[in-house]
Amino acid sequence: MKMHLDEKIWLTISFGIIMMFMFFTGYQAFALDMAPPSNKEIIDPQKVDQTAPFDKPGVNKIGESEYEVVMTLQAFSFNPGNFEVPAGSTVHFTLTSKDVVHGFEVAGTNLNAMVMPGHIQKITQKFNKPGTYLVLCNEYCGAGHQAMSTTITVK
Ligand code: CUA
Repeated sequence: MKMHLDEKIWLTISFGIIMMFMFFTGYQAFALDMAPPSNKEIIDPQKVDQTAPFDKPGVNKIGESEYEVVMTLQAFSFNPGNFEVPAGSTVHFTLTSKDVVHGFEVAGTNLNAMVMPGHIQKITQKFNKPGTYLVLCNEYCGAGHQAMSTTITVK
């Protein structure tokens, strides 16, 4: 079977494009470490209270306008809840669930994470604008799901 020259050219171009996409995706995922971060850090969900850093949930100042928030999510609350940080702070959240899958969504920001038992979720956000930010659980987690909320106050 004889192939037309145009056909060969277009086949080569489309194969080249596929290889290029695969190369970039692989490069981003492995060389730049941009692969989805799930399943990276695990924890025994039965022993969250005894496992560092979750044995001491809370807000820690770790630098000039930089905070670490170690938080557990459980039916139907966030621990710590209703905390404050100064405006301009960069906050590194370290999250895990003590029971079922919960959500961590902060209204008015891009923060939106799924928090699963057995996994440690890390997410960072800079809070520039003062105000009270509503924190919501956006994964259905049981009878009290719609009441599962707290706030972050930025001053
Ligand atoms: Cu926790 Cu919905």
